[in-house]
Amino acid sequence: MKVLLVSSEVFPYAKTGGLADVAGALPKYLKNFGAQTYAVLPYYTKFVEGKHNIKDTNIILKVDVDGEKEVKVYEDESYGYKAFLLRYDPYFDREHLYGTKDGDYEDNHLRFGLFSKGVLKLAEKLGDIDLIHLNDWQTGLIPLYLKHSEEFSSLRGIKTLLTIHNIAYQGLFPASFMEVLSIPSHLFNIEGIEFYGKISFLKSGIVYSDAINTVSPTYAEEIQTKEYGYGLEGILKKRKNSLFGIINGIDWDVWDPEKDPFIYKNYSKKNAISGKKENKRKLFKDTGLKGTCKPLFGIVSRLAKQKGFDIFLEVQDELFQRDLKMVVLGSGDKVYNELFLNLTKKYPDKIYARIGVYDEAFARKIYAASDFFLMPSVYEPCGLGQMISMRFGTIPVVRTTGGLKDTVKDINEEGGYGIRFDNLNKEEFLGAIDRAINLYKDKKLKNATVKKIMSLDFSWNNSAKEYSKLYQKIINNGI
Ligand code: ADP
Ligand code: GLC
Repeated sequence: MKVLLVSSEVFPYAKTGGLADVAGALPKYLKNFGAQTYAVLPYYTKFVEGKHNIKDTNIILKVDVDGEKEVKVYEDESYGYKAFLLRYDPYFDREHLYGTKDGDYEDNHLRFGLFSKGVLKLAEKLGDIDLIHLNDWQTGLIPLYLKHSEEFSSLRGIKTLLTIHNIAYQGLFPASFMEVLSIPSHLFNIEGIEFYGKISFLKSGIVYSDAINTVSPTYAEEIQTKEYGYGLEGILKKRKNSLFGIINGIDWDVWDPEKDPFIYKNYSKKNAISGKKENKRKLFKDTGLKGTCKPLFGIVSRLAKQKGFDIFLEVQDELFQRDLKMVVLGSGDKVYNELFLNLTKKYPDKIYARIGVYDEAFARKIYAASDFFLMPSVYEPCGLGQMISMRFGTIPVVRTTGGLKDTVKDINEEGGYGIRFDNLNKEEFLGAIDRAINLYKDKKLKNATVKKIMSLDFSWNNSAKEYSKLYQKIINNGI
């Protein structure tokens, strides 16, 4: 079977979060399970030009969005699968992927509308695609065009699967944009693309795809509730027989403390305790923190409400009275950028934060050096940070939600290895921090836990197999 995996970001070409990690790893692993998969992403000129081994295919697609445009197709095979990159510089030669710190780019509907149509034109050119695997709102128009646009009627045999990585990001635009996107006006209704008077790219994906999945079994349940569904719970409930939950993996080659080129000292499960100590010592030296004998909590995260950092406002004084250290790397919403910068001013001997930057190398140093990895998420569709940290022998401290619930078993449970708390309030959060500090003092148990989490298998093998089975089922009209 032949599959196009379409994503607005794919690691290592362009990344803002876990979506890129998933899209960059899954095609490679799917090969082992009978699915030849090509990744497709926009050619973000400033991010990819002159990098990797990207070549011009000389294919030009004529795509009609706001007038006919010529989209050039590039390809690369450097990472164990073929990636196609669709180039249209007026839309994608920008400083960022989606917008600046002041907000989203105003023409995102045109950018991702063009990308979506471009993907279908590419499918037409390639000729023998069985299934298109869509990811998040940026790709949500694809099944609508496939089912309802005369322009693509020759492709109607192609099946579609939409993966929802985060239901809070929906691609909402004014209904007046329908014409420029050539969305038939009769689809503007409650059963179609309409969402509270606007159009929703994500809802289009949910309504018109053959099947839907999300990135953990728990999140698949959660998004059918009012608390987590962001207004889409009703439509998801309606489609629940076509809605699945498949937990993400992490790329075992990309995340590997034995080979990682960025960490201070490589280590394996065998010498993890001394290896991590050396990484911690060097990280403290680089960041100016003192007292390597204290437990170190690491954070590497997008700074968005989703990630639960509002709790710091409530707990800061009590938290930093405790005998601990913290290193933070993150960028995102202004309010959280300021929050962490203020904390470093107030408690300079306790917390170091590098804010407003995306820094792959520093992220890895934190994963390697930390004793604990903190994810107090309000919601977390899957979460990769906790799995990456475990690969590096760093014990996760997480809120029980979504994929965090599915991947972190509390140490107080039989066979457990992490620290979980259920409710995002002061008592439970500080309770979890105290449990971590106590675990840190119990060297024997802590060291055994480090070894244990490094033995767990969060690689893509199991989940890629699940995806391949799901593709096959969709192609065979089994859904
Ligand atoms: P999300 O996709 O919601 O942001 P995940 O836990 O699924 O959360 O994935 C986050 C990914 O992004 C991880 O690979 C993490 O290491 C990386 N990451 C997040 N923020 C940064 C940053 N500022 N610099 C480098 N890597 C980051
Ligand atoms: C989203 C989610 C995150 C998930 C990632 C990859 O960004 O916020 O939980 O791990 O997508 O699926």
